[in-house]
Amino acid sequence: MATATFTRVRKQSTAPRRENVEILRAAVFHTPKNPFHFVDALAASPDGAIAIHAGRIAAAGDYIAVRAQYPDAVVRDLRGGCLIPGLVDTHIHFPQTRIIGGLGYELLDWLENLALPEESRMADTSRARVVAREFVHGLASHGTTTSLVFGAHFTEATAELFDAAHRKGLRVISGLVLSDRLLRPELHQTPEAAYLASKTLIERFHGLGRLRYAVIPRFALSTTEAMLEVCQTLRRETPSLSFTTHINESPAEIAEIARLFPWAPDYLSVYEKYDLVGRQSVLAHSVHATGDELKRLAGHNGSVAHCPCSNAALGSGIFPMKRHLDANVRFALGTDIGAGTGFGILKEALQSYLMQRVAAEPLTLTAAQLLYLATKAGAEALSLDSEIGDFAPGKAADLVYLRPPHGSTFDTALIHAEENPERMLASLLTLAGSESIGEVRVEGDVVYEGKP
Ligand code: GUN
Ligand code: ZN
Repeated sequence: MATATFTRVRKQSTAPRRENVEILRAAVFHTPKNPFHFVDALAASPDGAIAIHAGRIAAAGDYIAVRAQYPDAVVRDLRGGCLIPGLVDTHIHFPQTRIIGGLGYELLDWLENLALPEESRMADTSRARVVAREFVHGLASHGTTTSLVFGAHFTEATAELFDAAHRKGLRVISGLVLSDRLLRPELHQTPEAAYLASKTLIERFHGLGRLRYAVIPRFALSTTEAMLEVCQTLRRETPSLSFTTHINESPAEIAEIARLFPWAPDYLSVYEKYDLVGRQSVLAHSVHATGDELKRLAGHNGSVAHCPCSNAALGSGIFPMKRHLDANVRFALGTDIGAGTGFGILKEALQSYLMQRVAAEPLTLTAAQLLYLATKAGAEALSLDSEIGDFAPGKAADLVYLRPPHGSTFDTALIHAEENPERMLASLLTLAGSESIGEVRVEGDVVYEGKP
């Protein structure tokens, strides 16, 4: 049986590379260390620079030091702006791009009335092609360079997403969404058809350029045990695949899971039974996890996609971050579009800060922790941290240049932050929207340029 492995990655560059070193001069922020464990984790240079060579970080830090290392490099003066690592979205649904903003629902009635009817429209491949273009533009224009994406329930529509991401040059991990019950008939596949379609997509896209494949049962509610067994088989046959699904999002959903899997002591045990939880697994939401589930999730080294805008929009609840930290469960940010409120991962970071202030066990997150959750934590959750997530020399030059519009509140706040790195970063996290995204690069290649 054909499998895609990383020994036969077909590497295709999306743009010609500059072989000379280029220096970008601006304020630089990144988190080489985990700010939940180290107080000095934030690396910040108000007059900073990043040197890039052949798509890789050659150096990052204070401008004077970087310049001294590469005196002959071309310098692009971007002062007044900021450079941060490419943003990572660990949970987002491509087919839901056009239904962002559906107010007034809880999870299960939102699915029935808004999300699933829209997902059915992905049967029209030409429509899916246009939505895929809108989707990858949404990612790039908000600074998201890497994402773990729920594809469609249809093979061709999922292929359109991969094609669009490949053309754009983004890092996308995605796959066919698998379900065989309780949605709408047109969104169901048989387990056999799901297996064959998944194999076709894996062969075509896993390891193609910056693309990777993920096994994605929508959630245990919409998958029989036969379908979960297919997921297990797919992962066994290609161990480099990622895995993602939903867990413990809303009380009504959890009650349904208990009814459908009467043998299961809790939600996590359904996925555990089929060996679906490990280092490459990202489980979205985890708002209502029990202590025992958190303990086991940490033991599996799995990750959680924390989606604070979606959790608030659907009234799902407040993510118990303190309990996840205490249990050593890894987590990173996700937008969960279309239940989420937009493509901005920086907005998710701010929402996380706001919600944790008022959580049952409140936390006051620092700017460094929020930047980490938006970048390096996502890279770690997706097992891409040897390649991306911070500006360590040798890593890929995935970055976002934020340029405050002249006269904007963000501009004013940055100017008056008096070169205090924590204050500058906090202003950025609070005020920088998509209008502030000046340029976005993946492996040094420009994938988005904002209007001058
Ligand atoms: N659970 C199952 N499907 C979905 C979805 O599309 N969005 C969210 N937020 N939760 C889900
Ligand atoms: Zn979701």
